[in-house]
Amino acid sequence: MHIKVLGAAAGGGFPQWNCGCPNCRDARSGAIAAKPLTQECVAVSADTERWFLLNASPEIRSQIESFRGLHPRGPRHSPIAGIVLTNGDLDHCLGLLSLRESHPLVIYATERVRRGFTEGNVLYRTLQRFPGQVTWRTLELGKETDIVGLAVEALPAPGKPPIHLEGDGVSDPGDNIGLLVRDPNTRKRLAYFSAAAAVTSAMRAAFDRADCVFFDGTFWASDELIALGLGDKRAEQMAHLPVGGEDGSLRALAGVRAPKRIYIHVNNTNPLLRPRSPERVRAEAEGWEIAYDGMEVSL
Ligand code: MLT
Ligand code: MN
Ligand code: ZN
Repeated sequence: MHIKVLGAAAGGGFPQWNCGCPNCRDARSGAIAAKPLTQECVAVSADTERWFLLNASPEIRSQIESFRGLHPRGPRHSPIAGIVLTNGDLDHCLGLLSLRESHPLVIYATERVRRGFTEGNVLYRTLQRFPGQVTWRTLELGKETDIVGLAVEALPAPGKPPIHLEGDGVSDPGDNIGLLVRDPNTRKRLAYFSAAAAVTSAMRAAFDRADCVFFDGTFWASDELIALGLGDKRAEQMAHLPVGGEDGSLRALAGVRAPKRIYIHVNNTNPLLRPRSPERVRAEAEGWEIAYDGMEVSL
């Protein structure tokens, strides 16, 4: 299984256009050797010929251009055979509207995420210009779906609906999912959970069976945005389990048996982005890597 990280950052990217936090400021000035990051999007393939994307970031055009494996092999062609959405957040879905150049798209999502994106959305009409422009395939929780020869299973992950649908009623297990991707030939397994408010026992069991885990690396600290004066929400209120702290994911996932463990969807405020920060040193000492644009993993 081939995994290519096209974008490793949380919503806003790094540096973020309107952010002068220490990380964004120091990355711009060169005071820290930190490369810019685009918003989360990952390509997966069994054979390097046909790929599917995990999420469609607002930066999808430049992300596709950044990786030859996704370039057309003919006058009108794309090796992207499908796009899998893990939730309805705009950093995961806006890129769909950028793929409106009359190319048939196959999108895999829970019914809840499909409805959240399509219902009442006049902009979605740009993806309905001809019959079959978009084919939606429903991800049923706990069931495997074949995508380009890989078995993909959606597992509910504690989360929430996207900000623009908050307040539209109760939340649902289909609002936010993680993905288990299994290669039936090599028997390798990827567990992909880029947004999670907590670790369930089912998630933990999946991580123990996986060869590689990608996990929510949005915030180091629960009060990260508050402490920097950038917001009034704690990480948990945004449905992101922080990495550090007593109840953070480093602790919660200590001892997970997956040999490769990677934090992704890293917010620009996170000290993990600073080379040699104590937080980064600690995460690396515990066996975690921090995803970056262009990162490749082969299982
Ligand atoms: C998140 O990860 O919490 C969301 O991307 C936030 C947002 O949609 O701005
Ligand atoms: Mn996000
Ligand atoms: Zn910032």
